[in-house]
Amino acid sequence: MVYPIVMYGDPVLKKKAKAIKPGSIDVKSLAEDMFETMYAANGVGLAAPQIGRSVRLFIIDTSQMDDEEVGDFKQVFINPEIISENGEEWIFEEGCLSIPNIREDVERKDTVKIRYMDEQWEEHEEVFSGIVARILQHEYDHINGKLFTDHLTPLKKRLLKGKLSNISKGKVDISYRIIAPLAKV
Ligand code: NI
Repeated sequence: MVYPIVMYGDPVLKKKAKAIKPGSIDVKSLAEDMFETMYAANGVGLAAPQIGRSVRLFIIDTSQMDDEEVGDFKQVFINPEIISENGEEWIFEEGCLSIPNIREDVERKDTVKIRYMDEQWEEHEEVFSGIVARILQHEYDHINGKLFTDHLTPLKKRLLKGKLSNISKGKVDISYRIIAPLAKV
């Protein structure tokens, strides 16, 4: 099932999402729906709050990037915990399905050590770097109520104010279904 994607300005995107107790929700079907939703919007990562579910789950699939250097990486992350971030800070132009048509440079560390459960409730501890680490950091922010715009300077954010306000009103030119907090019905 493809869900509409929650737009910038919705309180669910600012909330710290809750940990998932094993068996409390069907994580497999939630993840499946999220993959479907993400593919419909041509995304490479999606966090549960972006479909209005305030739980600690996100998905990643880099196959859509079609970048040989990145390769194909597809994974469901449940109750993830970033244990450490290392390496050089590097700049990458980030975007977000909840903030369509805006891309901005964000600086983050290169390498991430993360512990998480997969959809079979098996625990993993892994180290990622480069683009995959970057997507992980972005999605991890989502389940902590943080958006990439929160990393921008106040000046930069002020310059985006008009665009962000339009997004909250649902005034965006995109092909996927959205739900905007200030849209007039
Ligand atoms: Ni995002």
